[in-house]
Amino acid sequence: MQELVLSDDADGVAERCAQWVADALDTAIARDGHATIALSGGSTPRGAYERLARDPDPARWNRTLAFFSDERFIPPSAPESNLALARTALLDHVPAHVFPVPTGFPTAAQAADAYEQQIVRRLGPDPRFDIVLLGLGDDGHTASLFPGKPALTASGWVTHSAPGVLPPPVERITFTFSLINRARLVIVLVTGAKKRERLAQWLAGDATVDTLPIAGVAPTEGRLVILADREAAGAA
Ligand code: 6PG
Repeated sequence: MQELVLSDDADGVAERCAQWVADALDTAIARDGHATIALSGGSTPRGAYERLARDPDPARWNRTLAFFSDERFIPPSAPESNLALARTALLDHVPAHVFPVPTGFPTAAQAADAYEQQIVRRLGPDPRFDIVLLGLGDDGHTASLFPGKPALTASGWVTHSAPGVLPPPVERITFTFSLINRARLVIVLVTGAKKRERLAQWLAGDATVDTLPIAGVAPTEGRLVILADREAAGAA
């Protein structure tokens, strides 16, 4: 069941996302003593990360394990990495335990295997994240699950993919749908008129996962919240 929450603009989406994440982390910490989050890449989450960084509360962040729902197969120091975005906007400002995708392997397949092992080591053999943050690409992809690619039907918790049509043209490591859909809370951030067509297709149930990968996001027991602005929702 999708919950669509509309904000007037991208700042409103960022504010709401920061609140949803903070509340979900605090709830998980109260229940389990720790919280697990998978951060999204792309540009949309930056505002939310910057807002979360304003409250580096150790009671929250010392008990938070931060992973990534996908990563480019490039050195962690590369400015285009999702790690770089998250560090600059959030992780360099809060005392979270950070688990970068280990991209220092000869192949993306080996990096994906190593990352899956790291997740299982930390979350157990049936990993369930408290929060998975996702974006929506202009082509309908999410994480690094691109239209028409084998990763869409990959088994296991982590897989790898050839580049999609959107830059940067590098291989990727990504959560599979199996791992995404086990999350307690999936938050999808969608802003701007460029996303309007894909968001409308998704909400209408008009497309297959192969052509619109975001349609594969359907948590089995968790909540799915779409935080969108009016431009993306066609309500501007
Ligand atoms: C990535 C992201 C990707 C992103 C979408 C939306 O590695 O690029 O994980 O899935 O979320 O492409 O990107 P924007 O937020 O920049 O529109």
